[in-house]
Amino acid sequence: MTDSVRDLLIVGLRDAHAMENQAEELMERQVDRLTDYPDIHSRLERHLAETRTQKKRLEDCLESCGESPSSIKDMAMSFTGNLAALGHAMANDEVLKNTFANDAFEHYEIAAYKSLLTLCSLSGMNGLAPALQESLREEEQMAKWVEDNVEKVTRDFVTRQRSTAGVAGVAS
Ligand SMILES: [Fe+2]
Repeated sequence: MTDSVRDLLIVGLRDAHAMENQAEELMERQVDRLTDYPDIHSRLERHLAETRTQKKRLEDCLESCGESPSSIKDMAMSFTGNLAALGHAMANDEVLKNTFANDAFEHYEIAAYKSLLTLCSLSGMNGLAPALQESLREEEQMAKWVEDNVEKVTRDFVTRQRSTAGVAGVAS
């Protein structure tokens, strides 16, 4: 029983590593284009750094389970595509769609870390829990920030649309 739960934990850790790779790609795609939104830009840069630390934590957890770095890399590739639709191409309301996507992604990550922590407990691998708890805490903080920012980013977006329209002589 414990062995099979341990196997589930290892699969979960690999999937979470792939998930964090995807998160890193999503944020890298967004961050350079958000210069008009300095609050989001700086918060995303901070979470990008956290995400890289989270990947390292997962690699350390996998090594503690006897997994080699090469197997981690292979699994990481397979996640790409699952949430590819969340990366929105340059569009008028890109900043809004990316905000919704980031909100969804952070909640996906929260669920994944809560599940991993349960598997740690069930398999007796409690030594991994503190690092995973730390990542969970960072995801929860980021999710809260994104949610709290939805109204502001929508208002900022409307203000920018209005000023652009004004410059073009199409004032509303
Ligand atoms: Fe995250």
